[in-house]
Amino acid sequence: MSTNALDGLAAAPGVAELPAPYSLRDFAGDVAAAAAVLESGSTQRFRAALAAPVRRLLARDDLLDCGLPRPGNNVAKSWYLYYDGTMSIVLFKVPMQPAVQPHDHGIWETLFVWRGQVRHAVYERTDDRLIQGRATLVEREAGVLGPGDFAVVAPPTDIHGFHALDDDTYGITVSSGQYKPERIYYNLEAGSCEIRRPVTLR
Ligand SMILES: [Fe+2]
Repeated sequence: MSTNALDGLAAAPGVAELPAPYSLRDFAGDVAAAAAVLESGSTQRFRAALAAPVRRLLARDDLLDCGLPRPGNNVAKSWYLYYDGTMSIVLFKVPMQPAVQPHDHGIWETLFVWRGQVRHAVYERTDDRLIQGRATLVEREAGVLGPGDFAVVAPPTDIHGFHALDDDTYGITVSSGQYKPERIYYNLEAGSCEIRRPVTLR
C-alpha cells in the first residue's frame, strides 16, 4: 500500500497499483536513440531498433484523446501527440480516397499504423532532374501495413505515397527537424512532378 503525501489518499488494501502507461515522452526518447544510427546510414538498424517502442505505443488505446489539433499537409485530421522543438509525433486519420500522392520530405520520417490497414509504397527518384516537371520514380518498398507495421522514409528514398484500406485507419508519423519548405509531389502514371508548399513544416 502506498500513501500520497499530498492529499493523504491511500490505495485500497490488496489493490495493486497499475504501471504507468508508456508515455509519448518515453517513446520520443526511444525513437531518438534509435535514430542515432541513421547518421551512419543504417536504415536497417534504425528499423530494428524501432520495433520495440512501436509495439509498446501500439498498446495504448487512448491516443485519440491525447493530441492537439494540427493542420495536416495531406490529410484532413491530424493531431500532435508530442513536439519538443525538434521531434514531432503526429497521429492522423489515413484517407481511403483520394490516396496521398507520392511526395518527398527532405528529412527522415517513420510512419506506422496504429489502427486499421494502409497500402504504403516508398520510392526513389532516379531521373537526372534536368527536365522541369518530369520525374521517374522507382518503387523500393511496397505493401499493406497493419497495426504495428511501419515504414522508414529516409533520404535517398524519402518519397512515399499511401492510402487506407478501411475507413477507421490511423497512422502515426515521427519526424525530426523541419520538412522542406517546398515539397515535390509526383504523378507516377504521367511521369510528372510539381512543387507545393506544405501547410505545416513540423
Ligand atoms: Fe509524408
